[in-house]
Amino acid sequence: MWMIWFTLACTATCALTHVSFTNLKCESFDKKFCQFDACYIKAVNRTHKYIDLYAKLMVLPIQNVEIKLEPMRYDNGYNPFLLAMTFDLCKYMRNPSARSMIFLREIHKTFLNATNMNHTCPYDHDIIIDKFFTGNLEKGISRYLPIPNGDYAIFTKWYVRNIPRSTVKIYFKITK
Ligand SMILES: *[C@@H]1O[C@H](CO)[C@@H](O)[C@H](O)[C@H]1NC(C)=O
Ligand SMILES: *[C@@H]1O[C@H](CO)[C@@H](O)[C@H](O)[C@H]1NC(C)=O
Ligand SMILES: *[C@@H]1O[C@H](CO)[C@@H](O)[C@H](O)[C@H]1NC(C)=O
Repeated sequence: MWMIWFTLACTATCALTHVSFTNLKCESFDKKFCQFDACYIKAVNRTHKYIDLYAKLMVLPIQNVEIKLEPMRYDNGYNPFLLAMTFDLCKYMRNPSARSMIFLREIHKTFLNATNMNHTCPYDHDIIIDKFFTGNLEKGISRYLPIPNGDYAIFTKWYVRNIPRSTVKIYFKITK
């Protein structure tokens, strides 16, 4: 949905937009269910940085997962910007190319080769994102964002069996 909106609204100025990831925050709501052993963005040098994430899962297997994506914009704190969207992850994994999942697919594709979150449910292991270099994603997004400069974030909330278990927040800056 956003993708269509971005594309439709995009003008020649989009190409000049620069996106850079600034922070990553993970929080578990129930440490008996999951814990984050790693959750950071590490800069290798001025132009290259990567994301590492290690979510240790204590209650396995997992086979009923929903993710809620909330786009946020900074203005005296982070406030909702665009509508939140919720996806059934197991349904997505069964049929990643489904039309209704196109936005999730676009996000997933960017880090697919750096994660073990790459198969259908159930999940009977920890979740890892290992050295996901963000450069390509930053370049990829740049073309689609006809939105003003500023600080943005995507707050993701992870539900297992309908209970919110954790949140992962990705922060980024848009400059021209
Ligand atoms: C930054 O680090 C990356 C990855 O190690 C490397 O490929 C790139 O050449 C480095 N860039 C500079 C300017 O040193
Ligand atoms: C993942 O894909 C990107 C771009 O397609 C590539 O630059 C990167 O080296 C790949 N990483 C791994 C671990 O294969
Ligand atoms: C999923 O990721 C794991 C760990 O990187 C890898 O060993 C496995 O081959 C991948 N599976 C698929 C279907 O790509």
